[in-house]
Amino acid sequence: MADIRIVEVGPRDGLQNEPVIVPLATKVDLVDRLARTGLKTVEAGAFVSPKWVPQMAGSAELLTEISPVSGVSYPVLVPNEKGLDAAMAAGAREIAVFGAASESFSQRNINCTIAESLDRFRPVAARALAAGIKVRGYVSCVLGCPYEGAVDAGKVAEMAAALVEIGCYEISLGDTIGVGTPAKAAAMLRRVALDVPVAKLALHFHDTYGQAVANILACLDQGVTVMDSAVAGLGGCPYAKGASGNVATEELLYLFDGLGLSTGADLDEVARIGGWISQQLGRANGSKAGRARLAVVG
Ligand code: HMG
Ligand code: MG
Repeated sequence: MADIRIVEVGPRDGLQNEPVIVPLATKVDLVDRLARTGLKTVEAGAFVSPKWVPQMAGSAELLTEISPVSGVSYPVLVPNEKGLDAAMAAGAREIAVFGAASESFSQRNINCTIAESLDRFRPVAARALAAGIKVRGYVSCVLGCPYEGAVDAGKVAEMAAALVEIGCYEISLGDTIGVGTPAKAAAMLRRVALDVPVAKLALHFHDTYGQAVANILACLDQGVTVMDSAVAGLGGCPYAKGASGNVATEELLYLFDGLGLSTGADLDEVARIGGWISQQLGRANGSKAGRARLAVVG
């Protein structure tokens, strides 16, 4: 087993924030290519309202058209039972519910309070688990909120523990707007780990201020081994103005290789996919490591 598990979120967190609507065939290609690089988790889409996030429309078709690779998980975001029904009908085997540590962000993102979000997630998780579907949980705004500013790590811990309580096997801690810095990231993780074992925690850091790799490094010695990232640094959040992409998968693969920690994924192949999808989107490749590898291996 690899030392570090990378959760590739480019097809979801990346594409949900692109101004262009990506054709289904390109999304299918993206997911299939990523799943053949050795990455074990490729978050494929979201069963949310297409009025709220038009880029994620077609996630049902996507799930039915991909060519699943054995041993790879393809989680999809699900905000409520309507989303769960659609995800189950499309054959999802893993879902992720997504809440926040900030009330204002919860309202803007999913149109309900934090307490209401837990009331929505509870039956979603219960029904999914009864059907043998794995349930992951996200907590957004763990290091800052676009509407409220600083966020108390105690609130992050409370939400993370509540998501474990309803049945999430893993909680991904989202620095949604990428405002964290290393000492704050490490302190937040230490606080959350008082209430949720670190083995159940993942880091989901956006790179708005270029701190994501530093933040991850600052958290590593606490034993966290699961990291979310997006090929070519795609991503953002439609309800977090100014948030830039997730830390690039290529940066993490290069970093962990340098640290002697295995990920099981092929950096050069991920870099090629990053170059290709950036071209498809007509945007610059957001990964420095990806651009550097492409200059060497093409
Ligand atoms: P609402 O308006 O409160 O829901 O939205 P509603 O139940 O009142 O329904 C309103 C309409 O939406 C109805 O349609 C429903 O059928 C439809 P209408 O009658 O008006 O035609 N609807 C749905 N359609 C498809 N799928 C569904 C669904 N549910 C209702 N599941 C809702 C509530 C949660 C649906 C809405 O707020 C929403 O879709 N929000 C999307 C939020 C989102 O996707 N945000 C981005 C992902 S989160 C993120 O990026 C952060 C993360 O990366 C971690 C981090 O970085 O921190 C995960
Ligand atoms: Mg995100």
